[in-house]
Amino acid sequence: MKRVLSGVQPTGMLHLGNYLGAIKQFVKLQNEADCYFCVVNLHALTIPKNPEELLERTRDVVAMYLAVGLDPEKVTLFVQSQVKAHSEACWLLQCVARVGELNRMIQFKEKGKGSDSALVGLYTYPVLMAADILLYQADQVPVGEDQKQHLELTRDLAERFNRDYQEVLTVPEPLIGQVGARVMGLDNPEKKMSKSADSAFNYIAMLDDPKMIEKKLKRAVTDSENQVRHDPATKPGISNLLGIYSSLSGKSIKELEKQYEGVGYGLFKKDLIEVTVDHLQPIQERYYQIRKSSLLDQVLAEGKEKANAVAEETLRKMKEAMGVL
Ligand code: TYM
Repeated sequence: MKRVLSGVQPTGMLHLGNYLGAIKQFVKLQNEADCYFCVVNLHALTIPKNPEELLERTRDVVAMYLAVGLDPEKVTLFVQSQVKAHSEACWLLQCVARVGELNRMIQFKEKGKGSDSALVGLYTYPVLMAADILLYQADQVPVGEDQKQHLELTRDLAERFNRDYQEVLTVPEPLIGQVGARVMGLDNPEKKMSKSADSAFNYIAMLDDPKMIEKKLKRAVTDSENQVRHDPATKPGISNLLGIYSSLSGKSIKELEKQYEGVGYGLFKKDLIEVTVDHLQPIQERYYQIRKSSLLDQVLAEGKEKANAVAEETLRKMKEAMGVL
C-alpha cells in the first residue's frame, strides 16, 4: 500500500483553494493508501499571530479534516508540534540543504521580500516541510500547484541524503490534480486564492454562509464577452469559475461549456452558487458539531501516538546514517 502525507497550515480561514487543491484529494486517497495528514502549526509560526488564536486555528483545521469526511479509522490525523521528530529531522536536513537552493524558493522571495527582518523560520520553512514528508517515508504528497517547488526540494534532499549517507529516505512524488490545483482569487483571477488576501472577496471560505457565497460569486470578476468558455489566458475569471464548478460538481469543463452555451454568465453564476452552497452546507453542519465535541482530543491523542511511532523510526535511521548518537 502506498504511503501518503500532506499538511495544512492553521493560518486563517480554510478556503475553496485549500479544499479543491488538497483536502478533497485527501478524502479520496484515504480509501487507497496509508494516509497521514497533519496540521503544520510550527510552519504557522512563520506568520506571527497571537498564541490563543494559533491554538484555536489548529483545532479548526482538525475539525475541518473530519467534517470533509476524513475517517480517523482509516487515516492518521495529527498536529506537527506533537511529533518532536519533525524539528529534529529539520535540523539534520538543514545540514543537507544548500543556501543556494533555499534562495531560489519563490514563496520565500514573495513573503520575505528581501527584508532583513524576514524570519529565519520563513527561510528554512521548506526544510521543515521536507522533514514532515520524509519522516513518514511518503510515496505521494497531495498538494496544490503552489507547493510544487517545495516538493522538488524535498526530492532533492532525499536523494542527496541517500547518496551522501545511506539509502534511508523514500523519494516522494507530488500528487497535483488536473482541476482545482490552482484556484485563483475571485477578485483577481491573475493571482491564486489565498487566506492572506487583503479582501474577503478574494476567496470563498469553507465556513461562508449561503448569503456570503452568493455575494462573493456574484461579484467575482469575469469579462465582457458573456460566453462561458475555458480559456485561462484571455478569460481568467470565467475559466477559474468553470474550474471550481467542475471540481465541485464532478462535471467536466467541456460538459459545462456545452451546458451553458449561449446562455451568458447570469445563469451560470446562479447555478454555480447553488452547487457551491449545496456542497459546503453539509460540511459546515458536521464541522460545527465536531468542533464542540470531545472527538477532536480523542482523534489527536491517537494520531500523535501513531505518527510518533513512524517518525521516530525514520529519525533513528537518519541519525544512525549520519553518525549522530
Ligand atoms: P497551505 O496551508 O498554504 O495550503 C494547504 C494546501 O492547500 C493548497 N492550496 C491551494 N490549492 C489550489 N489553489 C489554491 N489557491 C490554493 N491555496 C492553497 C496548497 O497547495 C496546500 O496543498 N507548505 C504547505 C503546508 C505543508 C505541507 C507539508 C504540505 C507543510 N508541510 C508537508 C504537504 C506536505 C502550505 O503552506 O500549505
